[in-house]
Amino acid sequence: MAETGAAVEAALGKLDLDAKTRLLAGQDMWSLPALPEIGLRSLVMSDGPIGVRGVRWTADDPSVALPSPTALAAAWDPELARRAGTLLAQEARRKGVDVLLAPTVNLHRSPLGGRHFEAYSEDPYLTGRIATGYVTGVQEGGVGTTVKHFVANDAETDRFTVDNLVGERALRELYLAPFEAVVENVRPWGIMTAYNTVNGTTMTEHHRLVNEVLRGEWGFDGFNVSDWMAARDTVGALKGGLDVAMPGPRTVYGEALAQAVRDGQVEESEVDEAVRRVLLLAARVGALADVAPAVAEPPAPVDGEALARELARRSFVLVRNEHETLPLRPNGTVALIGAAARDARVLGGGSATVFPARTVSPLDGLTAALPDGALTYAVGADPTTELAVADKGFALRAVCRDVDGNILGTGSAPGGQIQWMGADLPEGVTHERLHTVELTGTFTPRDTGPHTFGVKGAGAFRLAVAGTTYFDDVQLPADDTDPFEAFFGSPVPHAHPELTAGEPVEVSLTHVYAVPEEFPLKVVAFALAHLEPQRDADELIAEAVEAARAADTAVVVVATTDRVESEGFDRKDLRLPGRQDDLVRAVAAANPNTVVVVNAGSPVELPWREDVAAVLLTWFPGQEGGAALADVLTGAHEPGGRLPTTWGSLTDAPVTQVTPVDGELPYTEGVFIGYRAWEKEGRTPSYPFGHGLGYTDWTYESVDIAGSTITVRLRNTGERPGREVVQVYLAPTGTAPAPDRPARWLAGFAAVEAGPGESTEVTVDIRDRAFEVWDEADHRWSFVKGSYEIQVGRSIADRRITATITV
Ligand code: BGC
Repeated sequence: MAETGAAVEAALGKLDLDAKTRLLAGQDMWSLPALPEIGLRSLVMSDGPIGVRGVRWTADDPSVALPSPTALAAAWDPELARRAGTLLAQEARRKGVDVLLAPTVNLHRSPLGGRHFEAYSEDPYLTGRIATGYVTGVQEGGVGTTVKHFVANDAETDRFTVDNLVGERALRELYLAPFEAVVENVRPWGIMTAYNTVNGTTMTEHHRLVNEVLRGEWGFDGFNVSDWMAARDTVGALKGGLDVAMPGPRTVYGEALAQAVRDGQVEESEVDEAVRRVLLLAARVGALADVAPAVAEPPAPVDGEALARELARRSFVLVRNEHETLPLRPNGTVALIGAAARDARVLGGGSATVFPARTVSPLDGLTAALPDGALTYAVGADPTTELAVADKGFALRAVCRDVDGNILGTGSAPGGQIQWMGADLPEGVTHERLHTVELTGTFTPRDTGPHTFGVKGAGAFRLAVAGTTYFDDVQLPADDTDPFEAFFGSPVPHAHPELTAGEPVEVSLTHVYAVPEEFPLKVVAFALAHLEPQRDADELIAEAVEAARAADTAVVVVATTDRVESEGFDRKDLRLPGRQDDLVRAVAAANPNTVVVVNAGSPVELPWREDVAAVLLTWFPGQEGGAALADVLTGAHEPGGRLPTTWGSLTDAPVTQVTPVDGELPYTEGVFIGYRAWEKEGRTPSYPFGHGLGYTDWTYESVDIAGSTITVRLRNTGERPGREVVQVYLAPTGTAPAPDRPARWLAGFAAVEAGPGESTEVTVDIRDRAFEVWDEADHRWSFVKGSYEIQVGRSIADRRITATITV
């Protein structure tokens, strides 16, 4: 086996310019070309944070779906994040994937950010710790990561063009900080540069931030891949430190880059630098023959379902629990209410979407956990007022035909969603011969009444239900600025047939395949969309109230929909969609033991929160969410989560702006986002950063400081074993002044477990960086000497014990 550096040089030396530039360009949606002349096989990349989709984006290639990244961060446990990474590496290996396009370490700057659920926290330190655990786990499994999206991709509006104007101090102290932490802690094998521009330079060409800061100052030695279709300029990208332009086959690299070298616009040695980094990646993941991969033996196998369930319950945040309403009393009756209690909402929308083999809804989970006869169910309110991709009751397949109507092949598409990219087509089908795709099969309604059918996607469609053609025309994209409109755009309604519960009808949706010439990808993407009959909202609420009245406890599951939280667009408000707020109020009025389960990946407003007995935030809980919910409600397990982000109303939230003006989005708040901003403005959120209750109580007994090590003694004073996340905040006193510093910030945390009555100790090390500010005049970190209060507690607002440290 050759030594890696020598092998990379030897391989590089054998490549001519055309082969080198070919290696830097995607050959299709997800992979780089193989170069057999140097023993290099094709490198495969795949999304994403909560699962590994693989190169096929369909339900017939299922993946384990873990809870959303917000949930992972809510566990405040880098070791758990590492175990998640181990599982994802195992999934990647199973699917032939070399590089996982994750984690997302952008920050929760505004609660309106559409991909908020896909990032960890508003705090850069917590984000860096969780991401470090995650990347460690994935890479220990022999699979690469691309920490993304470098940098300041904190919202979705005009994401391809927005120029985020961010001061150097905010960049260093907030937005770059998680990337820096991961580079320092685990040397990630890759990074993904964002769509957006920062201070006038698009991120795929940002020489200063990529070459000088990331590589120069921090010593990052991994490869830099563009976000999908983010690279725009051959010379600009190469000089800006971009190694790989994705996806292919048409990119700014490949032939265009070879030509740029021949024209003297870039040096071949600059191309070599990029190729070296790709070859190093290949060596690390074992794609380069005769070089030992970074990981010789993959770790022991992980049970994905068990981990998904454990992670979910460890992430659930109990923000309110009056009179110990939870856990539920044994032998009590429960009225379970809510559309999302039956149709589980387990993950957020966009490139983070995977297709799990099964999902456990709250109804499934509680049915299995409670004795027979203890559970009743009512819909109460359905937040889905818009069409969604067809799902329950549909049995469809895709028939592909040529221009003469001959069948070329058929594909599986049970739910009516087609996302075929590049060579990923049903057997016998080619992009050249494909003319139409017909989704055809049956739909068996579960309700009688007017059903709505529609289409998601752009192009020519014909839609027929039960033998009647309702639409035969061209559907134009609603928003043509985002090339992923076919994936993320709104479905359009076209048919409203009256159907009868239990009686199957024929459904057919035919699409004429036509990809615009200028589109660099060959993609077939569209979906049949459907909406069940909308029952009278007052009647539904009345039914739920009856059920709640008859039970000992009412559990109401409220949720957002995939038209609220998704990649591709930002949120407009933080309200729960539909009549869900009215539902909660009505149920709470009927039953004092009302528990609300909030199934949302990012903050929503809870205007009734003081009127209900308990509130449990469950994020997007992944495929085993309903089982984990039963674990926590019944008290088999304690809910383990703490808020990784402040929850409050949109009107109170200090930083909300996501819409650029004249193409620019100034981050005028500087270093004040999240709790830093809430405290500065003197506003009280609904639930503060770090908050979360368990099923036991804790007394903080002492805090000792020795050098930079903080030792905290605490006692479990409750009646159950428990786990406590001990949070250490640093607050500058008058003698540690610096302009414009937050009142306090998270400087460390650690978790402890203890049985009832037991006392235990935990240590937290504070890094020098916690005392530093970025000096904009001198362009360096500056250690601010003086005294600080070390504030230790259960959240940023519930500080139990303090000590002073002078540095
Ligand atoms: C997203 C990335 C993702 C990529 C590939 C982009 O639209 O921003 O996060 O990894 O697509 O699916």
